[in-house]
Amino acid sequence: MTLHSKRGQAIHDAHLRENPEPHESSTPIPVLLLGLVAILLGWAIYYIATANPRTPPQFGDRRTLSDLSATVAAAPGAAVDGAQIFAAQCSACHQATGLGIPGVFPPLAGSEWATGKERLIVQILLHGIDGPITVKGASYQGAMPNFGEKLNDAEIAAVTSYVRKQWGNTASSISPATVATERDATKARSKPWTGGDELAQFR
Ligand code: HEC
Repeated sequence: MTLHSKRGQAIHDAHLRENPEPHESSTPIPVLLLGLVAILLGWAIYYIATANPRTPPQFGDRRTLSDLSATVAAAPGAAVDGAQIFAAQCSACHQATGLGIPGVFPPLAGSEWATGKERLIVQILLHGIDGPITVKGASYQGAMPNFGEKLNDAEIAAVTSYVRKQWGNTASSISPATVATERDATKARSKPWTGGDELAQFR
């Protein structure tokens, strides 16, 4: 018999002396296992509770550094974040670079529509566009969805302000009050703008 098992035997004997029930001698291992399971469970709950719910960036993602910092900054209950709204609502078409896709989605970087009068870009977002529009000398004939119901005044203000300051754009920020005024001015409209010609009234 080794020293170790002798000691084990001694403890075992002691247990038997203290607790005459025979099954008592087999409890130390389950208790240890239970403890381990409890620790693992606690860790799992902690992990799930503290994990970032957003999907991590994948290889090949067309994200920029500012998108990533936006992901980090946008904690629940945080102030409206234009960069985050852009990443979620606009970048699929206009791209994180703001350059769009030639012939399909027009650029926002350097766009005369995005950086023109405040009410112009607000009206574009409120109702969308369905018809021809010329952006930076290139013509587009696609459909821009409306965000009038999807985004509130503060959100439209945040995302348009972001677009107007991003990728070298230097236009003014837009306030939620301006969005509210524009929303009210065209509240009777239920169709998208029919293109650049109709939008020219806001230029
Ligand atoms: C489903 C694709 C799609 C999404 C999403 C989208 N757009 Fe557009 N957007 C377009 C298309 C297409 C046009 C051109 C419309 C046309 O050809 O009639 C356009 C036009 C524009 C224009 C005017 C032209 C220009 O390039 O400056 C602005 C400004 C604009 N979008 C901003 C935004 C913003 C801000 C968002 C997010 C809140 C957004 N768009 C989301 C497709 C999209």
